[in-house]
Amino acid sequence: MATMAITSSPRMSSSSVTPPNVVSPTPSVLPLKAIPGSYGLPLIGPFLDRLDYFWFQSQETFFRKRSEKYKSTVFRTNIPPAFPFFPGVNPHVIAVLDCKSFSHLFDLDLVEKKNNLIGDFMPSLRFTGNIRVGVYLDPSEPQHTQVKNFTLDILKRSSSVWIPEFISNVDVMWTTVEKDLSKNGSSNLLVPLQRFICRFFTKIIAGADTANSSEIADKGFGYLDSWLALQLIPTQKIGILQPLEEIFLHSFAFPSILVRSGYQKLYDFLKKEGREVIQRGETDFGLSEEETIHNLLFILGFNAFGGFSVFLPGLITRLGSTDETELQNKLRKEVREKSGSTQQLSFESVREMELVQSFVYEALRYSPPVPCQYARARKDFTLTSYDASYEIKKGELLCGYQVLAMRDPKVFDDPESFKADRFTGEKGRELLKYLYWSNGPQTGSPSTSNKQCAGKDAVVLTACLFVADLLRRYDSFTCSSSLSITAVDKAK
Ligand code: HEM
Repeated sequence: MATMAITSSPRMSSSSVTPPNVVSPTPSVLPLKAIPGSYGLPLIGPFLDRLDYFWFQSQETFFRKRSEKYKSTVFRTNIPPAFPFFPGVNPHVIAVLDCKSFSHLFDLDLVEKKNNLIGDFMPSLRFTGNIRVGVYLDPSEPQHTQVKNFTLDILKRSSSVWIPEFISNVDVMWTTVEKDLSKNGSSNLLVPLQRFICRFFTKIIAGADTANSSEIADKGFGYLDSWLALQLIPTQKIGILQPLEEIFLHSFAFPSILVRSGYQKLYDFLKKEGREVIQRGETDFGLSEEETIHNLLFILGFNAFGGFSVFLPGLITRLGSTDETELQNKLRKEVREKSGSTQQLSFESVREMELVQSFVYEALRYSPPVPCQYARARKDFTLTSYDASYEIKKGELLCGYQVLAMRDPKVFDDPESFKADRFTGEKGRELLKYLYWSNGPQTGSPSTSNKQCAGKDAVVLTACLFVADLLRRYDSFTCSSSLSITAVDKAK
């Protein structure tokens, strides 16, 4: 997506990771250590770890506590789902929690990315019409090249309608919120936001206009939510009363039949309204009609809708928090200076907004929307961290926990603080090498030979557009952590 790229440079290999805060160069031969940690007794170890992960500790505390206990950012642990009704799922992983060890996940000579999007557990293929969609394919599989090229082509072609589609859909969202505010004194953004994300990306990805189906325009986002939830529940903390959550939500996988009707409606809608894009999938990329539609639905529902439904609420609540009024004012000043008050926002104007971009990057560092990435050792190899190296055996599963890797004190100064301007200036741009939210460095480029997010540049750009549009629209804006908007002051 040449017109959209904010930054881009060649792929980084794990050996090139030299964090800025490592004062003395890492010795060329690091001591070889046994990986600390254990999987515990069969069944019992994984079950106890599952209770910690979902119940007694949060996900973050789970990883922090073990890292403290073993005094290491590389250790063995179990990851749910586990016992009793997940036969064939192996919960054993090697957790990697610093930038250097994490970067091995991007080296596809060392690791394989087959069927391990969310760990050893893979939701039933029935959720995707019995088709293994692109995210589950390793680059060594020829279909990965077809699907990845198709996705990159979709994004490139839709760059010409990106801004007008964004503006018209986001307008509908804010109009709904403003009406609600004046009627009820507050408005919850969640539903209008998800509707916006669904409508916008349906047009961008499949070229399909939800205005042609009132059911998809109104309920499409709900169909996507339940389809996503059913696949992910075994790996996610929901936060309902325990032990009910463990008994009813984390003990078995849910069948796809519960969401089949909504998924089929989305499928039929894309088949009818996304004809042009589907035809390109078939003629230019050699996919069958079914493969094309299920892949489109996955990219739309899981990657774009799922990713933005996690990322944008965090970004908006930080921006609208009463503690961040000064930050909001600084960002607004930059947005208005760089975009003028009358012209429409453009990729070019957003590219000029250094602080807005840095704010978006910092949000991606501080709360990576996809917290865990997995990869399986393709062969025996030596994994290096800063002060030790470790033997990894072929077949072992690495689990990169982004949240802590992105707080690596050897790379990021004051890593536990949110610093909106962290990625500004030359020093800030250097740090982009260590920003990994897209399953690769922010300076890398998604390609058929890697597993970096195809939407990497589009995500940053769209988030910048969202922030810039919001700050041009309102002179002040307040939003609670539950996405309840209590006040907006329209730009005069
Ligand atoms: C905030 C939004 C998003 C986030 C946080 C996100 C994050 C990610 C991550 C972490 C991966 C790697 C998963 C893995 O293999 O472990 C990934 C892969 C992928 N993403 Fe995104 N993504 C987002 C939005 C998008 C969008 C908008 C698109 C396309 C329109 C997209 C398309 C893809 C594709 C096709 C892959 C698979 C790449 C491959 O198989 O080589 N993503 N994304």
